[in-house]
Amino acid sequence: MYRPSAEHSEALQQAVQGDASITFAHDGKSAKELIRDATAVMGNRFFLQSLPYAKHLRWMQSNSVGVDVILQAREQLRGITLTRAKGVYDAEMADHALALILALTRQLHWIRDEQLDRKWLRRTLPYMSGVKAMILGWGGVGQGIARRLRSFDVRVCAVRRSHVGDPCPDEEGFIIIGPDRWREQLPETGLLIMALPFTQETDGLVGAPELSKLPPHALVVNVGRGETLDQDALLSCLRCKALRGAALDVLDLEPPPPEDPVWDEPRLIITPHVARSKEEPPFRWEPLFVENLRRYVSGEPLLNVVDLDKGY
Ligand SMILES: NC(=O)c1ccc[n+]([C@@H]2O[C@H](COP(=O)([O-])OP(=O)(O)OC[C@H]3O[C@@H](n4cnc5c(N)ncnc54)[C@H](OP(=O)(O)O)[C@@H]3O)[C@@H](O)[C@H]2O)c1
Repeated sequence: MYRPSAEHSEALQQAVQGDASITFAHDGKSAKELIRDATAVMGNRFFLQSLPYAKHLRWMQSNSVGVDVILQAREQLRGITLTRAKGVYDAEMADHALALILALTRQLHWIRDEQLDRKWLRRTLPYMSGVKAMILGWGGVGQGIARRLRSFDVRVCAVRRSHVGDPCPDEEGFIIIGPDRWREQLPETGLLIMALPFTQETDGLVGAPELSKLPPHALVVNVGRGETLDQDALLSCLRCKALRGAALDVLDLEPPPPEDPVWDEPRLIITPHVARSKEEPPFRWEPLFVENLRRYVSGEPLLNVVDLDKGY
């Protein structure tokens, strides 16, 4: 359910080695017709609207990393394998998170505003070395951010759902904390970074109780999903200077309506969901699609299978 280049189309054909036919849906109408007999669908574009017409579907390959939108059809997807584009954008997303962290730390958002007012105001600025950072979400994005932060001498700990027991270092020396213990560390956290999927468990995971435990010099950055952070609570903390700053690439409402206070809050930087930025063909997920199609046809385990109940 996307428009492939000639080269990519050829690579898909080679992956199935004549064992299957591949058809391309270019609009919603053709998607609804073609999905009736399809065993597999690749690409999100017309998927949700055509899914009710599927009769033989066994596999869906999404071009998204986060599949919360597709999982709106969770019950219809039971018995169908869902795979996603995990890993494809880790480096770009980690770069964007670092750009936000550095901009907030060195107050570039305020300095740029002053530049436009022709003001030259020298001041004392914080720096990264020695800061204690906590990353919520230890997928490829969180790990990419951690490795970059380490080169700035930031002390990094990370939170993952599956960790049980006491916090302990992983093989790279990052301290890993489980979902029941991370809140204890918030009073010492100068930088809270969120790279979580939106699931039933992460919905509003960081709210007023968590934000109020952070020290007043703390910074908060979210590149995962807007729903995992209570945006109103964050804005309240920023307004009363209970936090030094925040940067959000993902918001409750995208785009925010004109009257939304996120546009005007001086301590907040927002970017328009560009940690994974728009791309033109060839799409970076094309090699993953080809590899997973090859695996599907030859009966090998697929890459990046989503656990429908966990939600990622
Ligand atoms: N801003 C953008 O442009 C953009 C673009 C693409 C994706 N995203 C978002 O980025 C998210 C992260 O992607 P990724 O590939 O790095 O993630 P991922 O591989 O899906 O990993 C998710 C991480 O979150 C942890 N986690 C899940 N539920 C949790 C909970 N309740 N408490 C604590 N930790 C929890 C998981 O723990 P375990 O390791 O124990 O499973 C895992 O470490 C995606 O889900 C997507 O929503 C944003």
